[in-house]
Amino acid sequence: MEESSALTKGLAMNVLVAHASRAGATAGIAERIAATISSSGHEAVAREVAHAGDPSGYDAVVLGSAVYMGHWLKQAKAYAEQHRHALSSRPVWLFSSGPIGTSRVDDRGHDLLEVTAPQELPDLVEALRPRDHHVFFGALDPTKLSLAHRALRRLPTGRKLLPEGDFRDWQDVERWAAEIATQLSAAAREESRP
Ligand SMILES: Cc1cc2nc3c(=O)[nH]c(=O)nc-3n(C[C@H](O)[C@H](O)[C@H](O)COP(=O)(O)O)c2cc1C
Repeated sequence: MEESSALTKGLAMNVLVAHASRAGATAGIAERIAATISSSGHEAVAREVAHAGDPSGYDAVVLGSAVYMGHWLKQAKAYAEQHRHALSSRPVWLFSSGPIGTSRVDDRGHDLLEVTAPQELPDLVEALRPRDHHVFFGALDPTKLSLAHRALRRLPTGRKLLPEGDFRDWQDVERWAAEIATQLSAAAREESRP
């Protein structure tokens, strides 16, 4: 396979999958992305942004956050801002973990993967010039909610807005991560040309 030959020829890329998660769903997606990229012959690690450090030591970065009330978590935005220079000067991919529920469309028929993109996405695209941004379905564990959100879920509208369950689409996660690995392998081969 192309990807494993990249590894045997010493062309493996070193990839950071930095993520911000409040209740763990996004961390799980980041870990699956790192595992998928690693299984393609590259070296990928998943780290919470608080412990991710300087991305300059990596060949490429995947940065993702949970979306709450339309926004990325502040620690993810801070990481993007603090490391803007290093991130914009290497290949970067962004992801968000947001929509919950079994429907792919909202009440108006709009694709949830499009309408739930975080509000700061245009600024992130402008600052970091990512190769792609992808929205993944997320998960909601009621035991991890604040008291106010637990109270909200006692109302029928609250339960409709915040349905309980794990809606993460692992096939979608693996497909996206495999595409990143393919692009990294192509870039590694290009760099190694005499
Ligand atoms: C109070 C609350 C607000 C949320 N707001 C949004 C939102 O605006 N857009 C969205 O796509 N998902 C929203 N979600 C769903 C979360 O983004 C989803 O559950 C995500 O996977 C959580 O990730 P985490 O476990 O890593 O924190 C919300 C969830 C809660 C509990």
